Amino acid sequence: MKTGLTQRHLLGIRGLSAEEITHFLDTAESFREISGREIKKVPALRGRTVINLFFEPSTRTRTSFEIAGKRLSADVVNISASASSVTKGETLLDTARNLEAMAPDLIVIRHPSAGAPHQLARVCRAAIVNAGDGAHEHPTQALLDALTIRQRKGKLEGLRVAILGDLLHSRVARSNAHLLSKLGAHVALAGPGTLAPPEFATLVEGASLRVERRVEDAIEGADVVMVLRIQRERQDKAFLPSLREYAVHYGLNLKRLELAAPDAIVMHPGPMNRGIEIASDVADGARSLILDQVANGLAVRMAVLYLLGGGAGTTNTSSPPPSAKSEPEPLTEAVTVGGAQTDTSNAT
Ligand code: CP
Repeated sequence: MKTGLTQRHLLGIRGLSAEEITHFLDTAESFREISGREIKKVPALRGRTVINLFFEPSTRTRTSFEIAGKRLSADVVNISASASSVTKGETLLDTARNLEAMAPDLIVIRHPSAGAPHQLARVCRAAIVNAGDGAHEHPTQALLDALTIRQRKGKLEGLRVAILGDLLHSRVARSNAHLLSKLGAHVALAGPGTLAPPEFATLVEGASLRVERRVEDAIEGADVVMVLRIQRERQDKAFLPSLREYAVHYGLNLKRLELAAPDAIVMHPGPMNRGIEIASDVADGARSLILDQVANGLAVRMAVLYLLGGGAGTTNTSSPPPSAKSEPEPLTEAVTVGGAQTDTSNAT
């Protein structure tokens, strides 16, 4: 049986075809009902080992990868940077090589540096899954966002999607820009000039991607309004005059949401700053699909582990380590958009 994928790792959306993205979404759709069962477990990955290696904080991604692995009957091990020998000076690659010696089938990694998963993919036999690398990509977030949109709207092609906020530091924005473009959506991005550089419009060649100065211009007529987290930990770098001003000029409130299509949906990857990038009555309102996103995150991560971990019939552990040329280098777009040097920690 084949996986329907051309790559044995999931390092980013940029390297996937529209068909591969759709295959992940269709597989995730088929896994959704498992979480509604009384016994929420299937034997698909019995005997396989998944290591979750998180060098940054996470609630949604880490928990859902762990639950996903367990619902597929894999053996799941969680390692956080603070509890690992990284605190004693061990390098990322030495950590990876030592984990490899224990023959895991999949390593899920979140790391503050763009390109860290690609480094692991060069030295590991295990399939590598990028759970967020610096300001570069967060592919499973974009997949779960797409699944959520597709469930509500029936398609992505032709939809108008507004993405608002801190594009500069956002791996979610980058992965979504790639995915939405590949599936034919029209994307309007907006935020303060310091955080939404015009160069972002050129991120995906040939895409329907534009950057607006005013959030109102991006929201106007949108079918989907996606709000990004303001990364408060960076505000000492004077990207914004103040969080209060940000809320006034760029935050999504009910008045601004009225500019969107009458059946527009609201999304946020989390964690949210209520009252800053999104008003509570919007986040908790009838159009909000924020918790649907979280539920779909579990199904997407089950699909990713299943397809890359051998559930569909492949055996990754028997494959040789991949060539260093098998994935595009991620660093260029991560560090040059907007001309800012991206300090990439906590970049969701
Ligand atoms: N959206 C997201 O990645 O959330 P976490 O940082 O909680 O995993």
